[in-house]
Amino acid sequence: MASGVRGAPPQIHLAERLNGIAPSMTLAISARSRALRAQGVDVCGFGAGEPDFDTPEHIKQAAIAALQRGETKYATVAGIEKLRVAIAKKLATENGLSYEPGQIQVSGGAKQALYNVIMALVNPGDEVIIPAPYWLSYPEMVRLAGGKPVILNASEANRFKITPDELDRAITRRTRLVILASPSNPTGVMYAPDELAALARVIVERDVLVISDEIYEKLVYGDVVQRSIGSLGDDIFARTITVNGFSKAYAMTGWRLGYAAGPRAIIEGANVVQSHSLSNVTTFAQYGALAALEGDQGPVEVMRQAFAERREVIHRGLRSIPGITCVRPDGAFYVFPSIASTGLGSIAFCERLLEEEHVAVVPGQSFGSDEHVRFSYATDLATIEKGIERFARFVKRLPIHSTI
Ligand SMILES: Cc1ncc(COP(=O)(O)O)c(C=O)c1O
Repeated sequence: MASGVRGAPPQIHLAERLNGIAPSMTLAISARSRALRAQGVDVCGFGAGEPDFDTPEHIKQAAIAALQRGETKYATVAGIEKLRVAIAKKLATENGLSYEPGQIQVSGGAKQALYNVIMALVNPGDEVIIPAPYWLSYPEMVRLAGGKPVILNASEANRFKITPDELDRAITRRTRLVILASPSNPTGVMYAPDELAALARVIVERDVLVISDEIYEKLVYGDVVQRSIGSLGDDIFARTITVNGFSKAYAMTGWRLGYAAGPRAIIEGANVVQSHSLSNVTTFAQYGALAALEGDQGPVEVMRQAFAERREVIHRGLRSIPGITCVRPDGAFYVFPSIASTGLGSIAFCERLLEEEHVAVVPGQSFGSDEHVRFSYATDLATIEKGIERFARFVKRLPIHSTI
């Protein structure tokens, strides 16, 4: 403590841009779940949005080698050249998207890639269309940029997918952007190529931009083919920013590595944002990402198969519970069952489920639907089976259940 300088404690006023920005509602549930575990309670956790696998060894070794040979300095803002070349190659061969390395930005996770692009594009008052259920950070990023999130509710009857007509009606003169995620967090649902093409026609006709969040593209299990909307024609390509990352496919959540690819002017704008915030993603970590793209893809398939099996078990289990309906997910590692028939709001439902049966799931309200809860099945089969049994017991006890 400096001596002699005394004053009243300062009044802290946070910036107005934080007004109305929701802190994560899931944090309270996670904190309670941790506290119960610390007391020795056996909690079945379905909250995690990350693979329960470790990063494949060859990826770790590549980062270790980079660290040891001294890749410890600042790097180019947009990401090391070799990595952007490898990403361009991946997008061309796997996704049918032809981007130059100069049209790619490597960032601190897909999350920061999205944030940089939104900061680079959205003016105060601009509208950004976000289909609900949505990944909880999209609306808050738009608000932080001063924009207005326009939530477009997708009907459960249409498997949580918006239709071209619905999109068309939501677009106004102020619309700047649409954000699509396929497969989706929290529903796991994917748009089929013809559905994407129909949405692309609206986007082109109404001349807006689209962010395509493809972070779960490698974790798909059903018959629906994963397609990048930007690959469906030159006009839509010119209006698409493709976002992807390493967290989910390669079990690299803690590495913080993702990327955006799009029209040069947009990526250059995103680079300006990044140059004054992050500078660059941890230099040696980028060599791990390079190894992820260039190395053995076997581990990705091993994880995909494990998730595919769990999807079957959890979906079958949930559907067999009287009163619970559950859209079958096509990808990612989430299911989003409806709890509407229980008469409880999603937060109350999750709190009681945790207290009474020690099962942690995430309230749907965080994702734009209070009638659902999200299970992540990035956990082992034994936990899934035990958790579903407890969940069924809990639902059965709810008074409203008998009237269903
Ligand atoms: C739909 C979606 N997009 C983006 C992200 C961000 O991933 P990361 O920043 O780890 O790359 C997530 C993480 O949960 C997500 O679910």
